Amino acid sequence: MKVVDLFCGCGGLSLGFQKAGYEILAAFDNWEEAVTVYHNNFDHPVIKQDLSDVESTVVEIEKYRPDMIIGGPPCQDFSSAGKRNENNGRGDLTVSYAKIVAAIKPEWFVMENVDRILKTGKLVEAREIFKDCGYGLTETVLNASFCGVPQRRKRFIMIGHLGENDGFMADVLEKRQASKEMTIADYFGNQIDIKYYYRHPRSYARRGIFSVNEPSPTIRGVNRPMPSGYQLHPTDPVTTLEGIRPLTTRERSMIQTFPKDFKFIGTKTDMEQMIGNAVPVNLAKFVGDSIMAYLGVDNPINVVDIKKEFPAEIVNHGSEVVDSNLDNGKNVLVSLVKSDNVDLFLDGSAKVYYTGKKFPSTVALNKLYYFMPYIKKQGIRDLYLIKIARVGSKHEVHPDADENDLRLVFEVEFIKQLFDDYKPIRLKIWDTFTDTTLEKIINNQN
Ligand SMILES: C[S@@+](CC[C@H](N)C(=O)[O-])C[C@H]1O[C@@H](n2cnc3c(N)ncnc32)[C@H](O)[C@@H]1O
Repeated sequence: MKVVDLFCGCGGLSLGFQKAGYEILAAFDNWEEAVTVYHNNFDHPVIKQDLSDVESTVVEIEKYRPDMIIGGPPCQDFSSAGKRNENNGRGDLTVSYAKIVAAIKPEWFVMENVDRILKTGKLVEAREIFKDCGYGLTETVLNASFCGVPQRRKRFIMIGHLGENDGFMADVLEKRQASKEMTIADYFGNQIDIKYYYRHPRSYARRGIFSVNEPSPTIRGVNRPMPSGYQLHPTDPVTTLEGIRPLTTRERSMIQTFPKDFKFIGTKTDMEQMIGNAVPVNLAKFVGDSIMAYLGVDNPINVVDIKKEFPAEIVNHGSEVVDSNLDNGKNVLVSLVKSDNVDLFLDGSAKVYYTGKKFPSTVALNKLYYFMPYIKKQGIRDLYLIKIARVGSKHEVHPDADENDLRLVFEVEFIKQLFDDYKPIRLKIWDTFTDTTLEKIINNQN
C-alpha cells in the first residue's frame, strides 16, 4: 500500500509503517531540522512545506496518488504539557489535515494525536469532514506499552477507510495488544547498564526516579538534568541517589523504539524535541500491522490456515494446454519478483513464483488464472498461466531458506509476451488478488 506521511517530524510514524510493509512515497513537514534528520534516514523524498496551506499541499500530494495518508498533526495545543488553547493556531492543523485528506480522498487514512484531543471541538470538526467524505472511522486510545513499546504513552489513533462502518477495526486493535505492559528491561535485555534513572517530574509532588522493571513514563520533548538539590520522593523506588542519572538522548530514542543506528543530527534541544514528538516506531508498526491483519494479510497465520483448508492445491489448471488465445475476463495476479529470482522471469523460463509472506484472503485466490511478473523499476510485460497454486515453502526455490518459511507457491508456464516492452503500472498488491482482469491490464485500467 502506498503512503504519504504529513507532519512527519523525524519519521517515527513513517518508520513504523515502513516496517509493517507499507511503501512510503513522500513525507511533509515545515521544520527544517526534522526534515534534515528525516532525509538522512529514508530514501523517499521529504518535502519542507507549510501544511496549513491546504491548497498548495494538495497539489503536491496529488502527484503521488497515495492509497493512504498518515499523520500526526502537532499536538501542543491539546497536550497536557503545553498551554491548552486550541484556538491559538496549531490546533487548526488537525482541521487542515482533515481538509487535505478530504481533497485527496485516499482509500485509507490514519491520524495520531494526544488523547486530550478527544475533548476538543477541533476533533469534532475534523470528524465531520471525514464523515462527509464517506469514511468509516475507528477511534481508539492506545497505550504504547501494550503495543511493543517499553513506555506508558497514551495516544489517540483514528483510522479511516472509505465505505466502512464506524468502529470497523475496534476488535482487531483490541485483540492484537499484549496481555501485559512491556518494561524497559523486557525491551533492552542486558543492553542497558542501569537499574534506576531520573526523569524530571512535572511537579515535585511526583516522583522523579524510575526503575527499568517498569515501562518508562512518556518520553517528552525536553530532557532535564537532575537538580543538585533533588530530594527523594516517598514513592521513589530507591533509598540513595548514588549512580542515578537521566537517560541519554540515544536511550530515549530507543525507548521510542527507534533503531540504535537511526541517524539523529542537530542540537541536543532539537533532537530531544523531535524524539519526544515522535510516534514510537513500534506503536506505528502495531497500527500498520493491525490494518494488514484487518485486510486478511496477517501471515504466517493465514498461510497455515490456507494449508489446512487446501491440503493439496488452491488452484489447479495443471491439465490446461497453454493457449495463446486469451480470455480477457480471467483474473491476473500481478506480483513483484524479488531481485534474487528475477533472471528466470526476464528470459521467460521461470516455472515457479512464490509470494512474500503477506497476501490477501483465500477466497480471491480461487479466481486467479494468469500471472504477470512485475519487475522492479520496469513494470510488466510477460503473461504466464498459473498451472497450480498451493502452499509450499521458500526452501523449494532457495535451499538455504528455512523449510518452515511457508509461502504461496505458483507453478507457472510462459504463454506469451503481452507487451512489446516492459510497461510501468501502479502495482496494487491487495487488489491484484481479487480484481485485476486481463482486460483491465490490456486496456490500461489497472
Ligand atoms: C507531533 S509531531 C509529528 C511527529 C511524527 N509523526 C513522528 O512520528 O515522528 C508534529 C510535527 O508537525 C510539524 N508542523 C507543525 N506545524 C506545521 C506546519 N504548519 N506545516 C508543516 N508541519 C508542521 C512539526 O514540525 C512537527 O514535526
